Amino acid sequence: MTVEVDAYLSKWLVQEPQAMSDAVKHSSESELPPIQVAPTQGKLLTIFAKLVQAKQILEIGTLGGYSGLWLAEALPEDGKLLTLEFAQKHANVALENFKRANQAHKVEIRVGAALDLLPAVENEFGRTFDLVFIDADKQSMPEYFEWALKLTRSGGLIISDNVVREGKILDKENTDPQLEGVRQFLQSAGKKQSTISTAIQTIGSKGHDGFAVTYVQ
Ligand code: SAH
Ligand code: DHB
Ligand code: MG
Repeated sequence: MTVEVDAYLSKWLVQEPQAMSDAVKHSSESELPPIQVAPTQGKLLTIFAKLVQAKQILEIGTLGGYSGLWLAEALPEDGKLLTLEFAQKHANVALENFKRANQAHKVEIRVGAALDLLPAVENEFGRTFDLVFIDADKQSMPEYFEWALKLTRSGGLIISDNVVREGKILDKENTDPQLEGVRQFLQSAGKKQSTISTAIQTIGSKGHDGFAVTYVQ
């Protein structure tokens, strides 16, 4: 029933813009995995970005640009979304989706392993991002979070996706590095000075998962 409820909420509240539906269609036709955020969560990203009056956003994990479109939607015309993606093919599909949505002027996609790209991002931009969305491989989530802390301005937000994984984070026997990454991230995020963090479970079209929200003081 949670899938139907998600569809109902999406129908009445989210009303996914055509550009986002087209991006999902194009991503699926290009055989990208269907692991983009749910529409309800995408719109929450827009709201978060608006709340911090985001002019500069960093995303780690572009895929086909679906979450990026929801983030770019909140940016002013001269705003910037810098999004990092390991797979050239995903970046190509995303670029086409940003172009079709008339958002490409706000977006820069950098291709490579995020941990290799982030030092240059810090050199170039410093602590200027209003919002960082962490949504790449889960193994490196603790490192991505450390980078996000260095790159997010005071008063900004860090959102981290997929922190529940159908509750598998509780299964001590399961030492999958992706799960270990999520666990380590959750344990360290709660202890960070000058931040306020929480996490919310999500259920619906993307199964049972969750996202963490960190306010940088
Ligand atoms: N944010 C997207 C979904 C991202 S899925 C959305 O909601 O629409 C995760 C993405 O992270 C995939 O495209 C994958 O190729 C990418 N990824 C995996 N490992 C990575 C790495 N080390 N550096 C950068 N991107 C990575
Ligand atoms: C998966 C889901 C995600 O939202 C993501 O960012 C990465 C992987 C997955 O279900 O495998
Ligand atoms: Mg995700």
